[in-house]
Amino acid sequence: MSTANAVYTHGHHESVLRSHRRRTAANSAAHLLPDLSPGLSVLDVGCGPGTITADLAALVAPGEVTAVDASGDVLEEARATAAERGLTNVRFVRGDVLALGFPDDSFDVVHAHQVLQHVGDPVAALREMRRVCRPGGVVAARDADYAAMAWYPEVPGLDDWRDLYHRVARASGGEPDAGRRLRAWARAAGFADVTASASAWCFADDADRAWWSDLWAERTVASSYASLAVDGGHARREEVERIAAAWREWGAREDGWFLVPHGEILCRVRGVREGARRTVRARLTPRTPPTRLARMEILGTSLRVCVDDLDAAIGVYERITGAEAARFAQGPVSAAAVGPFLLLSGPPGPMEILRKVVATLAVRDVDEAAATLKAVGAEILAGPTPTSIGRNLVARHPDGSVFEYVDRRETGR
Ligand SMILES: C[S@@+](CC[C@H](N)C(=O)[O-])C[C@H]1O[C@@H](n2cnc3c(N)ncnc32)[C@H](O)[C@@H]1O
Repeated sequence: MSTANAVYTHGHHESVLRSHRRRTAANSAAHLLPDLSPGLSVLDVGCGPGTITADLAALVAPGEVTAVDASGDVLEEARATAAERGLTNVRFVRGDVLALGFPDDSFDVVHAHQVLQHVGDPVAALREMRRVCRPGGVVAARDADYAAMAWYPEVPGLDDWRDLYHRVARASGGEPDAGRRLRAWARAAGFADVTASASAWCFADDADRAWWSDLWAERTVASSYASLAVDGGHARREEVERIAAAWREWGAREDGWFLVPHGEILCRVRGVREGARRTVRARLTPRTPPTRLARMEILGTSLRVCVDDLDAAIGVYERITGAEAARFAQGPVSAAAVGPFLLLSGPPGPMEILRKVVATLAVRDVDEAAATLKAVGAEILAGPTPTSIGRNLVARHPDGSVFEYVDRRETGR
């Protein structure tokens, strides 16, 4: 599929997919995790082999994830990844981020990891991602920044690798130093509320060095990138072989260290889109039939488990669910979402309060929830309170059990 004046530089050679398959929501989309909760609908653009997609699907279930990629072959692998993990809330669609085949306001969250750097017009891509994101939703992107990558020791040949990569990627229509440009691209695309951040991968121990250097050595001589480099006249065959040898030499250095910095953006879609004629209401879009309780719609449930040792508990719950943990922090409390479980660990004071909450329920509207709860004799202990990602309340049911209710209505930020 054509991607409007850009060619995906890396292609999907095994040495490329080996790199993508190691990605998780925790190591590649941590900036987005606090915005995810059960019941949300997510579009993952440029999903590749779909390991991040699968984690997102586990986090928002029963909400649905739609995964799009320009390559039909890699979508097959992504489909298999979701099937292996037993996920039934992901669908896969071949498509182009510059012309997404979905109506306006289709998704609560629109996400792209390491995609905008490969697109000929990243500003147009962000505009298109915004078009399909509902008002009150969030558009998230993360991209590497090759000029900011750093390594030690300074093995001769790796500077040539970076120089060659810059030339090949730009000749293909991409921008390898995308990380630093994401915020500017989002503003040019018309987003007024953009939060920019950064995070990095670091490869240093023996196993990581071997993995990272092998895949780059192989990619440099055997992938689409290698063909683009040689056939495009950017390097002679001997040069790419010399660069591959430099990668292997770096990998063999016991003191080796490699930093891959990324820029990240979270763009909140505000109000009614200019020119829109339809009435837009703040909403969550359940893809599975909601459970009805009077006027309240329960869209999903997270079971909260308070633990002393978060690392040990993660091991146990990952084995129970087969899902990979997505870690995040809520103030002084460390948390990890593992399948339907939310593991919480922190200082005694906050934990004493959190221990009393049985589960977190995602609802369409906490005001409706409050009215229904009062009608059945529940006591509202706190809220509705606006938070950065929506509103919540805590209620004690007539039987004494305490629940948190959350929605995603706009907070006016
Ligand atoms: C570097 S990979 C990232 C894959 C995945 N997001 C991840 O991080 O593991 C980039 C992916 O974007 C896809 N892609 C490139 N240009 C695209 C476009 N214009 N529209 C949709 N997908 C595109 C490629 O086919 C590739 O699978």
